[in-house]
Amino acid sequence: MNEKKEIDRRSFLGMATWAIGGLIGAGFGIPAIAYIISPATRKDEAQDWIRLGSVSKVELGTPTLFKTKIERQTGWITKEEELSIYVLTENGRDFVAMSNICTHLGCRVRWISDQEQFFCPCHNAGFSKSGEVVSGPPPRPLDQYQVKEEDGQLYVLGG
Ligand code: FES
Repeated sequence: MNEKKEIDRRSFLGMATWAIGGLIGAGFGIPAIAYIISPATRKDEAQDWIRLGSVSKVELGTPTLFKTKIERQTGWITKEEELSIYVLTENGRDFVAMSNICTHLGCRVRWISDQEQFFCPCHNAGFSKSGEVVSGPPPRPLDQYQVKEEDGQLYVLGG
C-alpha cells in the first residue's frame, strides 16, 4: 500500500515538473516564434501616402515627371526602390498620377512633347497624354495612382 502511494507521488511530481517546464517553454517559445515570423505576416508598408514634390512643378497640360525613393519590406528584406510618376493637370486643381511603366512588358515610357505622347521604346507603343493606349501592343492604359494635394505638395498612395 505504501509502495503504491510512493509511485503516485512520484508520478505526480514527474507530471508537475513536465507541466511547469512546458509553461516556461511556452512563455519563452511563443514570443520568440512570433518575433521570427512577424516580418512574413506584416502588410506591405508601401501603402502610405508618398510625397512627390511641389505642385508648382507641374506644368498645365503637360505630364511632369516626379522621381522619389521608397523603402519596400518583404519579409526580412528591405530594399530601396525608385518611383517615377508622371503627373498631369489641365486646371491646376485636379491631378492624374500615372506610372511610367509600360503595361505591355514593363519597360519605362517617356513623354515626347513634340508628339504629345508617351513613347515606349521596347515595342514602339504610344500612350496619350492621359495614359490611354494609342498604338502598339499594351493591353491597357498606364496604371494610375490615387493622388492628393496638401499644403502645396503632391502625394500618391502606395507604390
Ligand atoms: S514593353 Fe512597352 S510596348 Fe512592349
